This record gives sequence, C-alpha cells and structure tokens, in this order.
Amino acid sequence: MRIYTYCWGGSSIDVAKYVKLNNPEAKLAVIPTTAGSGSEATRFAVLYEDGKKLSITDDIMIPDYVLFDPELLKYLSDYHRKSSALDALSHALESFWSVNADSESQNFSREALTNITRLLENYPESYKPEEMLMSSYKAGRAINISQTTAGHAMCYKLTGLFKIAHGHAAALCNRILFRWLVNNKPLLVLNNIADSMSCKSPEEAAEKFCAIFDKLGLEPPRASSHDIEILAESVNPERLKNFPAELDKITIKNLYQEILNTNGR
Ligand SMILES: [Fe+2]
Repeated sequence: MRIYTYCWGGSSIDVAKYVKLNNPEAKLAVIPTTAGSGSEATRFAVLYEDGKKLSITDDIMIPDYVLFDPELLKYLSDYHRKSSALDALSHALESFWSVNADSESQNFSREALTNITRLLENYPESYKPEEMLMSSYKAGRAINISQTTAGHAMCYKLTGLFKIAHGHAAALCNRILFRWLVNNKPLLVLNNIADSMSCKSPEEAAEKFCAIFDKLGLEPPRASSHDIEILAESVNPERLKNFPAELDKITIKNLYQEILNTNGR
C-alpha cells in the first residue's frame, strides 16, 4: 500500500518531509504555496523542538512529486510574495558562489538567477506566478547540491529578533555580502553571476541586487548596538563554511552594522 502525504507551503512541507523520514515507504507529494523556499526540491527540513531549531538532511526527504498551481499564490500577502521571491533570489545567488557548487548546481543557479532577476526587476508588472514557481524550484535544485552560504548563515537570527520574513532577512544580508565579496575577493564566478543578471561587471550586478531589493520597498529593521552583539554571536558555522571567503568575527560584526544601517548611529 502506498501512503501519500499531501501538504502545502514551506514549513508544512518540512513537517511532511519528517513524516517521510520516519516512513520511507510513503510517497511524498508537495504543493508549494509561496514560490520561494525551494523546499519542494531539497533534502533539507527545518523543524523546531521545544523552541530549538533542528536542521535535518536526508535524500529520502526529497519529494517524489511536486504540484505547481500558480493560482495559490493569489492568497499570499504582497509582503510574503516579495520576501519569498527574495528567498529564491538568495538561493540562486548563494548556490552560484558556494564552495560546494558543481556544474549541475551552477546550471540551475544560472537559470534561476536570470529568471528571478527579470521577474523582480520591474515588480509587480514583471512578476509572473507560474514562472516564479519554476524559478524557485530551480533555485531549490541548486541549493540541494551546493547548500546555502553566508547570507543564510547570518539571516536566521534576524528573523527571530525582528520578526521579519526569512527571504527579507536573507536578501538584507546578501545585498551587503555581494558587494563585500566583489570588493574583497574578485572570484571568477562573480563574472558568471554578473552575466546571468545581464550585467557587464560584478560591481554592476551587486548594485542591481541592491536596486531590486530597494525597489521592492523592504527596509532593514531598526537595530541597537546590543542587537549587533547578539547577531554576531548567532551565525550558523555550518552554512558559513560554504561561503567562498573567510569571514572573521570582526568582519561579521561590521557586516551586520552595514546590513542594519547602524554605522554611525
Ligand atoms: Fe532560504
């Protein structure tokens, strides 16, 4: 007998993945409702036990079937539509430069980055739900191979501390990290990233990422110097290792100040 577990949305997909982990005979069919998490394409699940975050990874949790229904995105608030899209954009970017990237993951990253940039450049006119769902899935396929990097390592505490959406927090970090990488470690992969974003140089691509974020009208939350201390201690070391440059404690603190615009405050 086959057991089918149907579920909707990023967090519920993760719960269903955990059910699948404990019942490998079951087939897992998922329906993404946010166009951003990429959870429908990955072996990762994030769960909370007694308030503590658990990250579980197992190939058995990759969904067997994915159903895409663009109509479901109508029920998202504008804020969650935008922040989910920024989550997918962050996955495409981070998977591209991840130290674990290979040619397969970079093919997915390239396609996702090109499409998501185009879909967000003139939001809301340029946003197409069906294309966003597919692009988010492709970005999910990319991080399934390469994993995420510093943007995600640094964003988790931001969501908890300031009650902002995950994609909003990830993009806040990546708009600063992108520029930092361009200025401090001019890797060849940054040229490929620029190319995928239809930019002539990595500098232009980093500015385009910022322009997309700014145009969506999302802002950094207001943070105190105490918040910066908390954040600097919160970074996920596992994800940080995937970033193609070393970030020491002082650099991380400076980056958080830039991310939250607290320089000189
Ligand atoms: Fe994410």
